[in-house]
Amino acid sequence: MRKILVTSALPYANGPIHLGHLVEYIQTDIWVRFQKLRGHQCIYVCADDAHGTPIMLKAQQEGITPEQLIARISAEHQADFADFLIGFDNYYSTHSDENRYYAHLIYNRLREAGHITQRTITQAYDPEAEMFLPDRFIKGECPRCGAADQYGDSCEVCGATYTPTELKNAISVISGAKPVERETEHYFFKLGDFSKMLKKWVHSGHLQPEISNKLDEWFQTGLQDWDISRDAPYWGFEIPDAPGKYFYVWLDAPIGYMASFRNYCDRSGIAFDDYWSKQADTSTELYHFIGKDIAYFHTLFWPAMLEGAGFRKPTAVWCHGFLTINGQKMSKSRNTFIRARTYLEQLNPEYLRYYFAAKLGAGVDDIDLNLQDFMARVNSDLVGKLVNIASRCAGFIGKRFNGKLTDTLPDNELYASFVRSGEEIASLYEKREYGHAMREIMALADIANQYIDEKKPWVAIKEAGREAEVQAVCTQGLNLFRVLITWIKPVLPRLAADAEQFLNGGELTWKAVQKPLLGQKINPFRPLLTRVEQSSIDAILEHAKQTAGKTPQDAVAREPVAEQIQFSDFAKLDLRIARIIKAAHVEGADKLLQLTLDLGGETRNVFAGIKSAYTPEQLEGRLTVMVANLAPRKMRFGLSEGMVLAAGPGGKELFLLSPDEGAQPGMRVK
Ligand code: 2FM
Ligand code: ZN
Repeated sequence: MRKILVTSALPYANGPIHLGHLVEYIQTDIWVRFQKLRGHQCIYVCADDAHGTPIMLKAQQEGITPEQLIARISAEHQADFADFLIGFDNYYSTHSDENRYYAHLIYNRLREAGHITQRTITQAYDPEAEMFLPDRFIKGECPRCGAADQYGDSCEVCGATYTPTELKNAISVISGAKPVERETEHYFFKLGDFSKMLKKWVHSGHLQPEISNKLDEWFQTGLQDWDISRDAPYWGFEIPDAPGKYFYVWLDAPIGYMASFRNYCDRSGIAFDDYWSKQADTSTELYHFIGKDIAYFHTLFWPAMLEGAGFRKPTAVWCHGFLTINGQKMSKSRNTFIRARTYLEQLNPEYLRYYFAAKLGAGVDDIDLNLQDFMARVNSDLVGKLVNIASRCAGFIGKRFNGKLTDTLPDNELYASFVRSGEEIASLYEKREYGHAMREIMALADIANQYIDEKKPWVAIKEAGREAEVQAVCTQGLNLFRVLITWIKPVLPRLAADAEQFLNGGELTWKAVQKPLLGQKINPFRPLLTRVEQSSIDAILEHAKQTAGKTPQDAVAREPVAEQIQFSDFAKLDLRIARIIKAAHVEGADKLLQLTLDLGGETRNVFAGIKSAYTPEQLEGRLTVMVANLAPRKMRFGLSEGMVLAAGPGGKELFLLSPDEGAQPGMRVK
């Protein structure tokens, strides 16, 4: 029996779980359930990531304490996870005694070994809110291209990266005040001390090749010291020997894996050291499932921290890609920012579990939830193929044979071939090739349905003297169904539990189905699944629309109204209606689209930072509003002759302004 500890990334305690999060929890949960079904000891722990500035500010805005906020969010997260059948063995919080203990322990050991250093840095400070500002809480004009409303770390228009102190006309998103520069002493973890170990570790089978290759790029630029401290006011753990300094949330977040496990050990009697001591890596396995965006933390900082503090390193860190919906990034403006709860109010969680499983592989590619394909796939595979096997056989057994199965199978070889497929399917689960596993299972479901088609029990039952044959065929069909339900049980645990109840033959495991279920009574059959209806999909999208914009991030990013201007200032702006006659990608620019605008006789070339929110096809032909008298600006990709107007915080959340019907290109906006 293997002894395995598994984690998923810890969700921030400042917002709801959405379908993007669920890719990871469903992926991990399937793997854990699979290991358990194979008879291994597999422990799955997680927690809320409960520290950091956004949580502190959200609590302030709501007029509650951070403790109250994280308690409420934790309850919401746990309800969402439970309803999606995510079977954590423990769900905890990074704001816990266990986590403080391990954060202190690891920090102290790193410091004693000389891996912590201190130095004074200059950071933006909000004199009104009296706090240092994280980069994301500063906005201003890009120092390179002048684009307004850019965050403190990078420009969404020209792609420049910079420090917040370089932003022009910067304001604090918290108070609207102008940030000042202040010196402050910070603590750093000397990641470079672990270069040699990490270079070897990342190429020793602990990571996917795509990730190892990406890390090589980072090694080339050299491993920098990692800033692990933040100044008060901060919501987190105070650093033991540094009053007024706190651990940066990302220091204690992964330590939260240990803390949650420790908490589990204390109530279950499992020995913590069996999983985390330096020697543990030969006898137990440790896996972290994460999104590819946080690979850096988990594949460099985290193994280095563990090594430096005398703990074992992970057996593997498995990254997955992001979720797109209907081919686009999840976005509030497209009403595709779907919360877990919104989905649950309409649909069975197992449909999404199945759909994600059908799409997931071992790589880091993004996966797409196409809602039409989702409906078609669930209806055809789960309802039309899998459950159909049981509904076609159960009625006859129940009504005509008093629920009794025959004592032998008419086609032992067919049953044996289904059982044999279990090893291939197991190896696919083990490798996280769930999509492939689902295809194998559905191919077997087709074979089972073909078998029933050929035997035609509904014809035979009408002919005298063929009862025994019908009973045998249906017993065969139900046994094939039983095997397939076992293979798909990691994905569909509730369906499997209902099937176990109906089949009345005990718990389904890889081992249990080696033998068929014969000569006994089954329970009355009730429909196991219903079809997905278009109306449920519509209701989900409608609800997503209503909840869009009601997230804490939006509230935090609400901008104060700018300084008052005179009418004469306003009159200087020449705003015109423009038609986008062409929109094109710009080679080498992540954020820009090149627009050709018709101003009523005159055309303009404009580079607009709206690529994250629109495809060129969505823009061509549309009317919008532009600043027509803006001095042309030379950009890296060419001359930009004006600006189009859009609202929103940026990224995916951008809304291009459009005039009412009847407006004509060239009209002046007054
Ligand atoms: O990116 C995130 O959502 C983080 N809260 C993940 C933390 S994972 C681990 F390190 F705790
Ligand atoms: Zn810029």
